[in-house]
Amino acid sequence: MYCTREIAPQVHWIGGSDRRLALFENMFPLPDGVSYDAYVIVDEKTAALDTIDSALSNQYFENLDHVLGGRHLDYLIVNHMEPDHCAAIGELVLRHPDVKLVGNKKTFQFIRQFYDFDLADRCIEVKEGDTLDLGRHKLTFVMAPMVHWPEAMMTYDATEKILFSADAFGTFGAFHGSIFADEVDFETRYADEARRYYTNIVGKYGPQVQAVLKKAGTVDIQMFCPLHGPIWRKNLGWILDKYSHWSSYTPEDKGVVIAYASMYGNTQNASEVLANMLAERGVQNIRVYDVSKTHASYIISDAFRFSNLVFAAPTYNNGAYFGMENLLHDMVRLNLQNRKVSFIGNGSWAPVSDKCMEKVALEMKNTEIVGTPVVLRSSLKEAQLSDLAALADAIAASVKA
Ligand code: FEO
Repeated sequence: MYCTREIAPQVHWIGGSDRRLALFENMFPLPDGVSYDAYVIVDEKTAALDTIDSALSNQYFENLDHVLGGRHLDYLIVNHMEPDHCAAIGELVLRHPDVKLVGNKKTFQFIRQFYDFDLADRCIEVKEGDTLDLGRHKLTFVMAPMVHWPEAMMTYDATEKILFSADAFGTFGAFHGSIFADEVDFETRYADEARRYYTNIVGKYGPQVQAVLKKAGTVDIQMFCPLHGPIWRKNLGWILDKYSHWSSYTPEDKGVVIAYASMYGNTQNASEVLANMLAERGVQNIRVYDVSKTHASYIISDAFRFSNLVFAAPTYNNGAYFGMENLLHDMVRLNLQNRKVSFIGNGSWAPVSDKCMEKVALEMKNTEIVGTPVVLRSSLKEAQLSDLAALADAIAASVKA
């Protein structure tokens, strides 16, 4: 059965939720599933905006058919060619043989790379600022390269002042009936997952996101319609402020993320003792994670949120424990910067993990090292508590600065 909602006059949401998918992009855990948004405008001309993941194509076509009510589909606007949004294009073309596809040069390059159907005579290639008149709705196309793929673009409906924003302003998490951000307690229900989605999926492309935010600031936008998660029609400033922090790599909050790797509990113990010392010194936001237990995407998300990071790991094969190396390399690849970092190393016969971690951490721009690394020999001893306390003093002072 169809499941749709009219979100503005003649504008309909025709997306859906997937609670079965375990890993987004086969990498990122989805404890509460994921939603895919797709839209259709039914005016003198009809236009669908993006399709959907293959898992939801049946639902998508039921929704589309219902909203079209037997009408012909004139256009499919392809804002993003990642297959979680374009997997149903081939079937849509079969069902609507006269449909015109609207995209930019790269969009059509990617369609040809992913699919084999005949594009002849059905492409309308658009550039920045080009328009499409549906009757009452006048659409303008805004290029958004690398937010999150090079072909990504957004579509602005000047009539209803809606920005169809592709991956921007999206989140992990299925819908629970409500599809508007103001219909749920977004901060409780989705904010952490919105941050985890942004930082891990789009985090690398902060400058490109900043460029799009700048363009968006020049037009009157009353609604953000993303490709994942709730639609924003109230309090748009809240999510814009988050995007401004995340894309400029500015911490949202003062606080400390302690990410540790530990084979037999000794590096964990030193991390817990440090966390305890920080709490005693009045540091309020402390998050402690075992890199072998918590998926890196959650640690990355908090690393974007908080000001200070502590990395603690044993030496392994003359390097740092590989789970820790993976985490650090992931942060570098995601372009995280402007963080204050500290280290706890460990090694029973040739400790080098602190130096190895520091080397990778310094690849992040504007990394400030706080305190003197504490290097354990197998386990934390009474005699080293003063070194750890000195590290805690330095971190606490840095957090409060
Ligand atoms: Fe949900 Fe970059 O696609």
